[in-house]
Amino acid sequence: MKNMDLNNLLSQMTIDEKIGQLVQFVRAFYSDDKNGEITGPLNELNITEDVIWNSGSVLGSDNAEDMIEIQKRYLEKNRLKIPLLFMADVIHGFRTVFPIPLAIGCTWDMELAKKSAEIAAKEAALSGTNVTFSPMVDLVRDPRWGRVIETTGEDPYLNGLFATAFVQGYQGNMTDEYNIAACVKHFAGYGASEAGREYNTVDMSERNLRENYLPSYKAAVDAGVELVMTSFNTVNGIPSTGNSYLMRDILRKEWGFKGIVISDWAAVQELIPHGVAKDGKEAAKKAIEAGVDIEMMTSNYVNNLRELIEKEKIKMELLDEAALRILELKNKLGLFENPYRTANAQKAEEAYLCKEHREIAREVAYKSFVLLKNNNILPFSKEKNVAIIGPFAKNNRILGPWSVQGKEEEAVNFLEGIQNKIGREKVVTVEGGGINCEDKSNFAEAIEAAQKADVVILALGEDQDMSGEAGSRAYITLPGVQEELAKEIFKIGKPTAVVLFNGRPLEMTSWYKEAPAILEAWFPGSETGNALADVLFGDVNPSGRLTMSIPYTVGQIPVYYNCYNTGRPKNEGTEGNRFLSQYIDIPNEPLYHFGYGLSYTEYSYGDIDLNKTVMKYNEKITAKIKVKNIGKMAGIETVQLYIRDITASTVRPIKELKGFKKIYLEPNEEKQVTFEIGEDMLKFYNSECNYLSEKGKFEIMIGHDCKNVKGAEFELI
Ligand code: GLC
Repeated sequence: MKNMDLNNLLSQMTIDEKIGQLVQFVRAFYSDDKNGEITGPLNELNITEDVIWNSGSVLGSDNAEDMIEIQKRYLEKNRLKIPLLFMADVIHGFRTVFPIPLAIGCTWDMELAKKSAEIAAKEAALSGTNVTFSPMVDLVRDPRWGRVIETTGEDPYLNGLFATAFVQGYQGNMTDEYNIAACVKHFAGYGASEAGREYNTVDMSERNLRENYLPSYKAAVDAGVELVMTSFNTVNGIPSTGNSYLMRDILRKEWGFKGIVISDWAAVQELIPHGVAKDGKEAAKKAIEAGVDIEMMTSNYVNNLRELIEKEKIKMELLDEAALRILELKNKLGLFENPYRTANAQKAEEAYLCKEHREIAREVAYKSFVLLKNNNILPFSKEKNVAIIGPFAKNNRILGPWSVQGKEEEAVNFLEGIQNKIGREKVVTVEGGGINCEDKSNFAEAIEAAQKADVVILALGEDQDMSGEAGSRAYITLPGVQEELAKEIFKIGKPTAVVLFNGRPLEMTSWYKEAPAILEAWFPGSETGNALADVLFGDVNPSGRLTMSIPYTVGQIPVYYNCYNTGRPKNEGTEGNRFLSQYIDIPNEPLYHFGYGLSYTEYSYGDIDLNKTVMKYNEKITAKIKVKNIGKMAGIETVQLYIRDITASTVRPIKELKGFKKIYLEPNEEKQVTFEIGEDMLKFYNSECNYLSEKGKFEIMIGHDCKNVKGAEFELI
């Protein structure tokens, strides 16, 4: 339908039909449940059935049959035959479940991330979903917060690249039958919830917000994301969902966003408990004036907007522009021509977990694992007898807390993967007690199994419901008696590798020294067992690199690599000086830092070679460095470029990631890696929030991770 037809359609709509487009409820409201379910939820929201048949979108489509049935029934009842939009949380895969986004981040592989989103989009589109509430791009520095699982970590530059890759993967050019609209979330700054406590206050300087928290949302907007979701939290005293500075001044005016803004679940209603709206009417007024187009799962718009307009408390234009944006997205998706798009149950079943999709899921998984420690015991030989001990030995709860459409039974668990690799007869498992209980009754059996085996794998971690939304933890250690189990197994002295299943960086301080090897696996998804077997038995050389610091202890939080130096930095040579920025009882450094990850081989770096050390504003500097594989196994090295602005009008981080290159090296192979450094890489927000670079000295650091780097200096003049 052409745009002028949309304006014509809008002109035919009654005010109630326009308001209806701004409404979104879950699928249950549309279901044909003989128990009158459709009236049950309606009562809670004080709405009548006609609201349902005027509503604009549905939350939670997950299969083609339902979507087709709901759409057909809806179109029979909707006066102007305006089709429904179907939206769902497709966060890291649909039925083929990829690793959690925090793990995908550790691949540092944008093409692979994009491919995972394309596959998710295809399976979702075949299942009748038109919009995904993904990517979640909130920058995080606090692993107590459960939703770190959904993001790609602590760096604004890297998060921006992943945001772009995911949006491109889901949306393509929005013309392909398997493209779906993406919704970047949660705008803005949700990851900075105080103390890592879910739904808590966010309060920071605008400079920090712009420097660290906004870039990834902007990257999604620049990539053409169709929707933006508001966050639950306040931003400097005003909840995002009622914050017109965020949504009209920054998102729409500064960034030029023309798509749909949707509230998070009940976030319009929550303006009341936040204390910025006295009732639903004021909540509706504040939200639509701030720029929220769709109210998710509450009924303040439908119960108040008509009166607010009739009493001229708000302008009709606000309603028209919101309704038109929703019609435009439906038009872009071709729903007016074909309300069912590619929904097709049979094709969906053929696509789910097909060979190609499983292969990509396996590749993403084994590239997301981060080898944290290895006292030369990995990889294991395939000839060895293996004991897998711990609650994740054959646990299928390995998809992560946001794998909404995934089915645990379809995942390859740890035991199955190891058996696929080395045969059934060489593997025994002992769960050794639950994930989060005090039961040690299986310890003896576990110890006996370890004593009999050649090598031991400790499969430990958090249950997936211990992270994700509303999954904040104040203590981020291995739950239950898992640490005690690990220490008992370490005492036996067999080659033992700890494999961690978790949705956040965990505190490992009490046991990591005794662990001969540690592999961080996160929640690896549908191909967990096969991917782990690939790495543990050496068919794949681990290449994952951390994108979120693993703290030495929870007392260190927030701990992140791109911190400021302070006036009394604790540097080499200051040992013994009390009066430094430090703790008297723990180190400043995290246990494992940003960009870190071991390999089965070793890489050596030459010195940085700069083509010049003085750069004018319109020039670039070329930095070259040689990297050699000095080990015995081929591998993928992620060469990282960091820059430090040594002196500026505001303090600047001790280093910031500004680029990286992934290179494949055979044993003894050496490659030269080149980075072009331009003035745009040197810009930052000064104290007036102007985005600019300043003359002066800069340090370049290139290396394996944020600590192991070679350095050089140049000056911008
Ligand atoms: C949830 C989440 C959001 C999700 C939405 C719809 O509360 O905060 O990320 O997309 O509701 O399920």
